Amino acid sequence: MLSVKSILNIEDLSLEDIDLVLSNTDSFLEVLGRDLKKVPTLRGKTIINLFFEPSTRTKTSFELAAKRMNADLVNFSAPASSLKKGESIIDTVKTIIAMKVDLIIVRHPDSGAAKFIFIKTNIPVINAGDGKNEHPTQALLDLHTIKKRFKDFKKVKVAIVGDILNSRVARSNIKLFKKVGFDVSVVSPPMLLPENMDYFNVDIKNNIDDVIGEVDVIYMLRMQFERHNRELYPSVREYNEYLSLNMDRVSKMKKESIVMHPGPVNRGIEISEEVMNLSGKGSDRLLINTQVTYGVAVRMALLYLLLGQ
Ligand code: NCD
Repeated sequence: MLSVKSILNIEDLSLEDIDLVLSNTDSFLEVLGRDLKKVPTLRGKTIINLFFEPSTRTKTSFELAAKRMNADLVNFSAPASSLKKGESIIDTVKTIIAMKVDLIIVRHPDSGAAKFIFIKTNIPVINAGDGKNEHPTQALLDLHTIKKRFKDFKKVKVAIVGDILNSRVARSNIKLFKKVGFDVSVVSPPMLLPENMDYFNVDIKNNIDDVIGEVDVIYMLRMQFERHNRELYPSVREYNEYLSLNMDRVSKMKKESIVMHPGPVNRGIEISEEVMNLSGKGSDRLLINTQVTYGVAVRMALLYLLLGQ
């Protein structure tokens, strides 16, 4: 059993919780490999996908996870722009309680929204990304991807590259990777780092060339253009010079090392077209689609652990 009723952030998860999620993920990956990708585990349970921000892959991933376990899933989308903050969350929460759902998946532009909904409803909540705060299911699927690839996974060296300031993925991943003992560094220019970076206690570099030949995992973040209210990074040219992954840099990576990205990729900014289009053997180190596949299985494991036992 998990020690938590909701998946709101990484801090609340114990190492035992994390192991439990990952071992169940393996079982559900086996289900996803079958012809008939469906199990009756959550028959009769109702799940709501509550998305206040645009999302393709995370929303679809949760939807598939729920449907493959035979739960009833309802999509509730509200464009962020039509929200009056606070007031409309309360109204939404009241509606959800009245609908008697068993679990709520929330994505919201405000940090803390998932926790707020859990406190107000006391219904299990999975945080599918809240503002710049956390995206714990992304971190868990990323951990699974790394664990599957490296036998001695405790010794893994990871560099997280790009827009740390605006990235909830960076926050959850740094916390989770450190928790399981990885050697974590970040690569970002000072203007794309949060002020409280000391809190994370990681090595900071400003140029991807400082880490590219040393790490096992190069984790590229999406440039969060929608969260920039002024021009933070002067130009794509400079981004390409210090942060982007191009063919030249890929050629300097360690033999077994891998490239990850939470998606969607801004082609030509975080990762060059040529690298994205790698085919054959060269593409073995690009794990972006593998992350997506494992994402469904991790979410099935979480739904099972929160609802199915
Ligand atoms: C991430 C998100 O929305 O936080 N994407 C995702 O969940 N697939 C990362 C991002 O958009 O940069």
